[in-house]
Amino acid sequence: MRFCLVLISVLWPFAVYAEELSLPKGQIEAGRTVFLNKCSRCHGRDASGGNAPDIQGMLLKDVKEAARGVEAMPEIVLTEVDAGHIAIFLMSLAPDQARIRLGIN
Ligand code: HEC
Repeated sequence: MRFCLVLISVLWPFAVYAEELSLPKGQIEAGRTVFLNKCSRCHGRDASGGNAPDIQGMLLKDVKEAARGVEAMPEIVLTEVDAGHIAIFLMSLAPDQARIRLGIN
C-alpha cells in the first residue's frame, strides 16, 4: 500500500506533464524502441547518460542535429519518423525540461 502511494506520487506529476505536452503514448513507445536500438548503448536505457551525455527532455532539432554527427558522436542514419518518435520519447522522460526548451514553461 505504502509502495503504491509512493509510486503514484512519483508518477503523477509525470502523467500530468505528459498530458499537458500531449505526447501520444504509441509514439512514446515507438520512440523507446528505436532509442533502445540505436542510442541507448551510449546514452543509457533511460537517456540519462552513460558513455554519452544525459539527453532527457531534448527536442527533435537536437536529435536531428546530433544524428548528423557531433564531435564524439558518430553520424546515425534516422528517418524523419524515427527522429520524431525518439524526440517524443526523450520529451516524455523529462517533460519539465522539454517545456523549458519549448519555451512554454
Ligand atoms: C557511439 C555512442 C553514441 C551513440 C550510439 C549515440 N550517441 Fe548521441 N552522443 C554521443 C556522444 C559521445 C555525445 C557528446 C558529443 C559531444 O558533445 O562531443 C552525444 C551527443 C548527443 C546529443 C547532444 C547532447 C547535448 O548535450 O547537446 C544528442 C541530442 C544525442 N547525442 C542524441 C542521440 C540519439 C538520438 C542517438 C540515437 C539515434 C544517439 N545520440 C546515439 C554518443 C552516442
